[in-house]
Amino acid sequence: MQNGQAKMVQVTGLRKKFGRRVVLRDVNFAFSTGAVVGLVGPNGAGKTTIMKALLGLLATDAGNVQILGQPVSVNTHTIVTQQVGALIERPAIYPFLTGWQHLQLMTTSAE
Ligand SMILES: Nc1ncnc2c1ncn2[C@@H]1O[C@H](COP(=O)(O)OP(=O)(O)OP(=O)(O)O)[C@@H](O)[C@H]1O
Ligand SMILES: [Mg+2]
Repeated sequence: MQNGQAKMVQVTGLRKKFGRRVVLRDVNFAFSTGAVVGLVGPNGAGKTTIMKALLGLLATDAGNVQILGQPVSVNTHTIVTQQVGALIERPAIYPFLTGWQHLQLMTTSAE
């Protein structure tokens, strides 16, 4: 359920390894609706990896992501497709949607 008190984005205890390399180690942050925030860090710091986790495009090893109080994971994208517009390097489309569903998303987002 959407919750008026919920943070716009809440990331808790995010951890991600690629092979043996820990790229995200206990990442925690949150911000509220209306905030303008930047995610900054040197090349390879893990910014894109965090963004992929926020969009449910990447399986993480621990932690969780909530947008407007709703969970996001590789299996849970409802709030992402309803409320988020995002463009990252890859994947350029949502791998869990069909081509037709992408077209529907564009038309409903424009309303
Ligand atoms: N699919 C992957 N497999 C293995 N390693 C990866 C993968 N994706 C990212 N990495 C590694 O994880 C680390 C973080 O990468 P990420 O792309 O998240 O950094 P970034 O902060 O977005 O960097 P940049 O500023 O260059 O965009 C880097 O060391 C990168 O090489
Ligand atoms: Mg990047």
